[in-house]
Amino acid sequence: MPRFVKPIVAVLVAATFVPLAFALNARVSKSKKPAVHLFFDMDAQPKFKAQQGNPVFADGRAMRHPIPGTVARGELLPDDAVTLGKVGEAFVAEVPVPITADLLARGRERFGIFCATCHGLTGDGRGPVALRAESLEEGTWTPPSDLHAEPAFSRPPGHLYNTIRTGIRNMPAYGPQIPIPDRWAIVAYVLALRRSQHATEADVPPEYREALR
Ligand code: HEC
Repeated sequence: MPRFVKPIVAVLVAATFVPLAFALNARVSKSKKPAVHLFFDMDAQPKFKAQQGNPVFADGRAMRHPIPGTVARGELLPDDAVTLGKVGEAFVAEVPVPITADLLARGRERFGIFCATCHGLTGDGRGPVALRAESLEEGTWTPPSDLHAEPAFSRPPGHLYNTIRTGIRNMPAYGPQIPIPDRWAIVAYVLALRRSQHATEADVPPEYREALR
């Protein structure tokens, strides 16, 4: 073996430590340069982010209000009677969607899920949450209204709808959890509950009256 081979091998072996040294150095030091970015794709785009300023607009804000009348996709709302339960300030006196057996069945199901916990399955205000709160006797509980007693009993359908949508006094709003068609389904069902809880013999079809006696 010629004499110069040994030092060359030594140099090469030493050189293999150089990348390792760079890597170790990179782990302990900070660089202000951007990271090496081989494929830019669409990663870096000139844009304004939310809350940033933008000199293009007179008010200097990058975030813009939607143009008045803009409707988000899938959010085209029916008229006020259906979305708010009122026309102007007046609550609607009729359910503004067709009342069908399906709607009532849906309303019954939804009422059981969202309302009966407090108001009870018949709407008398004696749901399991109310009973439990009473048994705790903490004295801070506002009992859920009996839907068959005043003032709730005489409320027009639009008012019931609005109660679901925005809540009332101590009752929270259920609008965010219950979509518009389901709110009306519940209203229709509450109206049916009203009738069922205040039914007289005259409400029973003649052919069934005998069986009741
Ligand atoms: C967490 C318990 C709770 C749930 C669930 C609940 N309510 Fe209530 N509700 C109340 C309480 C409490 C009141 C009385 C609020 C007050 O008087 O401060 C009330 C009042 C009402 C009233 C009477 C409003 C009036 O005109 O005076 C109606 C109607 C009503 N709720 C309907 C509903 C319907 C429909 C649902 C289901 C979507 C529902 N509530 C779900 C607690 C609840």
